[in-house]
Amino acid sequence: MRARITGTGSYAPAKVLTNADLEGMVATSDEWITERTGIRERRLAASGEACSDLAVKAAERALIAAGIRAEDLDLILLATCTGDYPLPATACLIQHQLGAVRAAACDISAACCGFVYALSIADAYIRTGMRHVLVIGSEVMSAIIDWTDRNTCILFGDGAGAAVVSAGNDDRGILSTHLRSDGELWDLIAIPGGGSRLPPSEKVVAEKMNCIKMKGNETFKVAVRMLEEIARETLAANALRVEDLDLYVPHQANVRILKAVAGRLGLPLDKVMLNLDRYGNTSAASIPIALDEAVQQGRIREGSLVMLGAFGAGLTWASALLRW
Ligand code: COA
Repeated sequence: MRARITGTGSYAPAKVLTNADLEGMVATSDEWITERTGIRERRLAASGEACSDLAVKAAERALIAAGIRAEDLDLILLATCTGDYPLPATACLIQHQLGAVRAAACDISAACCGFVYALSIADAYIRTGMRHVLVIGSEVMSAIIDWTDRNTCILFGDGAGAAVVSAGNDDRGILSTHLRSDGELWDLIAIPGGGSRLPPSEKVVAEKMNCIKMKGNETFKVAVRMLEEIARETLAANALRVEDLDLYVPHQANVRILKAVAGRLGLPLDKVMLNLDRYGNTSAASIPIALDEAVQQGRIREGSLVMLGAFGAGLTWASALLRW
């Protein structure tokens, strides 16, 4: 029994925020953002549009692509750090909206690695008897951004991507998943206020402690090392070489990080899926959006060897190897 992605879908809100728009908000420039990050524009959720709204649209597309009904789902896993409410899990709202009457539902909190973590959980459940698991990454990062902090507000965007993972009997599917964490580095990327350590208060909001804080430069260096290491580990675990890969679909945070990783691995850039110029960093949504676009563009076909690679707050890092 092997778990296989049988359908993907994605959704990005209509509103576009360009680098030129940001020039009017903080002391930055289109040139600086493009050169340092590769990002040109990002999407923003409309007022009142929450994480589950984006997720449901992506999920409906993935279900159609997979050719199954919401009623067929056994489990819904939502990777997010920007759920609709602190309680309940946003996955339950999605379960209801989709009409997935038989499905269990819960959220996975692993920041930008959330989709790969959730995919790994889906893989384990399918191997032990489930038939269909819906894995979603959905984020409204604009809700947790300090729009006066130029170090972070230029980086992030909103969006959702989804994949239906189903049981299959052939050699295709998820070959392996690899998950890591190092909580010693928790404060490289964090929202310090609003949780049980520092509950919501006027002070938390006034000091923007309910917004994302990041040590970008330190994160950059660790990210390159982690992505390279876990990619090598993944290929070695499957007795495969970099040359065997058809496409690398990494977390879309910074084009310079991804160029450095590709260079270290000896992977040509045309085998790296890049779409961060149009979406920015959409955290847990970035890999499933990129995966769906790669499928739509015909860059992933039956038999393709695809590697996913993610890193993010926690710190966490993760990868998955798929035979499509
Ligand atoms: N516009 C213009 N200047 C900016 C700026 C902006 N938006 N943001 C920061 N700067 C300035 C800094 O203040 C600093 O100025 P100084 O030298 O006068 O102090 C200078 O640019 C260099 O800052 P630095 O942080 O060293 O830049 P960098 O080359 O590391 O690029 C990031 C910053 C954030 C783009 C980069 O570090 C990055 O992408 N890191 C990884 C972040 C990431 O991936 N996070 C998500 C993980 S899931």
